[in-house]
Amino acid sequence: MEFDVIVIGSGPGGYVAAIRCAQLGMKTAIVEKYNALGGTCLNVGCIPSKALLDSSEHYSNATHHFAEHGIEIKAPKINFGTMIDRKNEVVKKMNNGVNFLMKKNKITVFNGFGSFIDSKTIKVVKNEGGEETLKGKNIIVATGSKPTILPFMNYDKDRIITSTEALNLKEIPKHLIVIGAGVIGAELGSVYGRLGSKVTFIEFAGSMIPTMDSSMGKELQKSLKKQFDSEFHFNTKVTGIKNTGKEVEVIAENNKGEQVNFKADYCLVAIGRRPYTDNLNLSLAGLTPDDRGRIAVDEHTLETSVKGIYAIGDVIRGAMLAHKAEEEGVLVAETIAGQKPHIHYNLIPGVVYTWPEVASVGATEDELKKSGAAYKIGSFPFKALGRATASGDTDGLVKVLADKNTDEVLGVHIIGARAADMIAEAVTAMEFRASAEDLGRISHAHPTYMEAVKEAALAATDNRSIHS
Ligand code: FAD
Ligand code: NAI
Repeated sequence: MEFDVIVIGSGPGGYVAAIRCAQLGMKTAIVEKYNALGGTCLNVGCIPSKALLDSSEHYSNATHHFAEHGIEIKAPKINFGTMIDRKNEVVKKMNNGVNFLMKKNKITVFNGFGSFIDSKTIKVVKNEGGEETLKGKNIIVATGSKPTILPFMNYDKDRIITSTEALNLKEIPKHLIVIGAGVIGAELGSVYGRLGSKVTFIEFAGSMIPTMDSSMGKELQKSLKKQFDSEFHFNTKVTGIKNTGKEVEVIAENNKGEQVNFKADYCLVAIGRRPYTDNLNLSLAGLTPDDRGRIAVDEHTLETSVKGIYAIGDVIRGAMLAHKAEEEGVLVAETIAGQKPHIHYNLIPGVVYTWPEVASVGATEDELKKSGAAYKIGSFPFKALGRATASGDTDGLVKVLADKNTDEVLGVHIIGARAADMIAEAVTAMEFRASAEDLGRISHAHPTYMEAVKEAALAATDNRSIHS
């Protein structure tokens, strides 16, 4: 079987690349080792985690906030089985959506494990039995990532778990230890904290979500502490984990070099993800992954060192985000079609779907300091917003960083209600290289959370925010 393009992996990188290739008139095949399409994001990542975040947020609001709005209900009860079933239904609907898109775009789907025979040939060991040999003028590797887990962590998928199992537990932990207070730790820690688990975070760095602007982690920690029973141990490195039957024991070392021990009924390991190229036989195509397991690509075209083989998404350098993978899928399809697309990597937003949400684009203040750039800051607190006061979501702030001389917006960092949606305005503004004054002069509907962006931009322009 011969194709213009063979895509290996059906995550947001792979399936979007396949659709764009088909739109551009290429005969396209996609190979996925599971029977369900959609990759990590759709099956064990973005979508199921957001379904559980939404369900647990409803429960938390019913338990803690309905009464202050004058809504009196009997203490709500959790049916965890129903919550998990609903999450599975959401995933199924999305799987069906991707199946539909493959059919609509006449993309040939192979459900089976793909591996290289040579730089133009892929062997598929089909899930239904048998093998298929595919020839491709171009091949796009979009095989994604898997959770990082170190040998001393004794991952058993039972009490010592990763995000994959945490999205499918049979019971709500009484006490959950979360190793790594990064994005997964903050989101899944929130799910179980809201549902009643005590959550102990053990983090190697000095704060939560340490790769984001440092003001965000501090605010988030304050908000989470108010919401559920939680403990935070920063500057602490885990050195051992064991399942003792009904419990998990975690051994760690703090920054004074002292040993600290923790016990709980479950331990979620969320210390990052590794690119996944196991058994892909990259060497038969003339490729070797780098020391971090990533496939090296050309900065502009995402072509590997072998002509006609491209790689996208979590398997290459850069943020491991679904929308980054999607943009790269489109870029490669258009590059193969002879176009000259471009991605502004600096303008790919990052979002943490806790409550309040955290969202960020562009440079952090630490990065600007380190680079010696001349910058100015404007910030605005949610508690000064009419909309936030009306809803009761007053935690959070918007921080705008702008060039001290030109006033160009260099970074926007938001923690607060609906930050995930609000960040789009900052991305758009920065794509058009807006100044802080531009943002501050644009009319924003009142009363909205978005007014905080306008006010923070006015504060950055020349300290002239109106409402603070
Ligand atoms: P993947 O989605 O990992 O897809 C790769 C696919 O390739 C998989 O289906 C795999 O089975 C298949 N495959 C691998 N090898 C082979 C082979 N040899 N043959 C056939 N098929 C193969 N990102 C966000 O932007 N927003 C979020 O809210 C978000 N939430 C997340 C929550 C969790 C719990 C996790 C774990 C991740 C989350 N992410 C989120 C990250 C996001 O899921 C990834 O960045 C994204 O899925 C990467 O897309 P991809 O296409 O590169 O790879
Ligand atoms: P992460 O990189 O966000 O966080 C891992 C944390 O673990 C870091 O803070 C790190 O300092 C800490 N750590 C590492 N080793 C440790 C040790 N031995 N002991 C204690 N702490 C340790 O990675 P995470 O949360 O696992 O997520 C993986 C990827 O998935 C991320 O790259 C993220 O982009 C993506 N993702 C995105 C989401 C989103 O966009 N909302 C949601 C969930 C995941």
